Amino acid sequence: MSDPKNLRVELAGMLGRQTPGIDLRSRAQLIEQLIVVFHTMRTTEHLLQVAGGAAAPGSRLRRYYAEHLIEERGHARLLAEDLASVGIDVLKLEPPADVLALIGSIYYELFHVSAAALLGWQCVAEWFPLPLSTIGALEDLHGKKLLRTLRLHSEIDPHHGTELEREIARLPDADQAVVARSAKRSLVYLLNLRGRMCRSLAA
Ligand SMILES: [Fe+2]
Repeated sequence: MSDPKNLRVELAGMLGRQTPGIDLRSRAQLIEQLIVVFHTMRTTEHLLQVAGGAAAPGSRLRRYYAEHLIEERGHARLLAEDLASVGIDVLKLEPPADVLALIGSIYYELFHVSAAALLGWQCVAEWFPLPLSTIGALEDLHGKKLLRTLRLHSEIDPHHGTELEREIARLPDADQAVVARSAKRSLVYLLNLRGRMCRSLAA
């Protein structure tokens, strides 16, 4: 991969091909989506610590993970509070199997394949935030309290996404290939999960 923008376009294409999507104007579907986001987000800090520990001492990648950890700190707790505002105790809910598979695969790769693997999952998590105009419309429908964490991510992820592209572009070819594989596999897990959610809503 010479330019991470190509990967971004490819992932956007995979996302765009999926129909139907989740309708966040529906309160029930928004809450279900936020629960999924929580189950991934709660692993972010630990994944960044593990990835930083797997990266070579003194490397640019290790520094990037350490700096990024500061920026993501506390967001899962904030999202748990958002969900608590509508009576959901998200810590009591079971993580979906696709989330376990997705996150578990990233841990596997960090320990046994490459410290760069987490960047692949980050591509999926950070490159496609909801536009702020959509967040505003959802706040009008559902109230600002429920959307706090999503808004935060829509505000900061455009910047995080650019940083991520820069880090990926600096990796050796073999690690870039790991990132691309990890990103596409992560997205497939999420799309499978979304497909299952849509089918259960339609049933
Ligand atoms: Fe982020």
